[in-house]
Amino acid sequence: MTTENPTPATPGGEKKKIIFSGIQPTGTFTLGNYLGALKNWVQLQEDYNALYCVVDLHSLTIRQEPKELRENTLSALALLLAVGIDPNKSIPFIQSHVHTHAELCWVLDCYIPYGELGRMTQFKDKSAVHADNINAGLFNYPALMAADILLYGADLVPVGADQKQHLELSRNTAIRFNNVHGNVFTVPEPYISKDVGKVMSLQTPTKKMSKSDSNPKSYISILDKPETIVKKFKSAVTDSETEIVYREGKDGVNNLLTIYAAVTGQSIGQAEQAFAGKGYGDFKLAVGEAVAEHLRPMQEQYAKIFADKAYLTEIYKQGAERALTISKRTMQKVYKKVGLVV
Ligand code: TRP
Repeated sequence: MTTENPTPATPGGEKKKIIFSGIQPTGTFTLGNYLGALKNWVQLQEDYNALYCVVDLHSLTIRQEPKELRENTLSALALLLAVGIDPNKSIPFIQSHVHTHAELCWVLDCYIPYGELGRMTQFKDKSAVHADNINAGLFNYPALMAADILLYGADLVPVGADQKQHLELSRNTAIRFNNVHGNVFTVPEPYISKDVGKVMSLQTPTKKMSKSDSNPKSYISILDKPETIVKKFKSAVTDSETEIVYREGKDGVNNLLTIYAAVTGQSIGQAEQAFAGKGYGDFKLAVGEAVAEHLRPMQEQYAKIFADKAYLTEIYKQGAERALTISKRTMQKVYKKVGLVV
């Protein structure tokens, strides 16, 4: 395994591009996180030098139960490994283990106008939800995210639609800093995957599936037991028609077809054909069973990995070491450029 050279040359002599993404360790991940993000991350590690970060520092912007946060952080790391992130191909690590993230965040904070942070829709949304705790970290959240990305010279950042504005801010920050100090940062591009569309709530299929939904029947946690998964799909909201086709206005059916196609590797058209002439009851059951079956191997892996704390520790230590080696170089450059004594 290479620790010194984060961008080994490909046989053609070109360097692989660098990809960085992060996920917050708050609770378990949903089927939406899995199909929309994690599955892609696994694919991407084949073609890129990938860093995948459990962003525990970001989670502190919302009040956390310390014991739970610690548990969730390890669980998130175990999940990354269980879905197929391979530490021999990419670098999985825990954000707080690599001190350069908080350090670069501070410097970037001094290069981001207050007004720009105030315009972030996530800040406004979260401030509304957590009106009793609108802290400076919540406001600075995008600066830490920019630090995550810019430390590693990431070329590409896979993010969902809700994080595009933050990525735009990272780009602006990199450009602004470079304009003052010369070419220090790579300006990252969003990576838009050609994957399944959004996975929607099973109860309100016009809304995105979310683990913060107050109704647990609306989302599938990727660690839900097979029986629970099937049960939740059985109670999924559809419509008052009978036809299983993908059509505007049939949000519930569309969502189930999308999910079925994603987990079976079929096209939507093939999925429609598979259910031609069937009733909604059979359809929902079949989708539930397909999802449960699809998640089973990953769940088994997860249980094994999460139980093996020594292995997890080894992985996060190694990840932190490799991430630090790379990010320190950027940090030194930045400190030098801004005039600190290095
Ligand atoms: N803010 C991201 C989210 O909530 C998580 C994140 C933190 C991230 N740092 C990142 C994503 C860097 C991509 C790159 O989804």
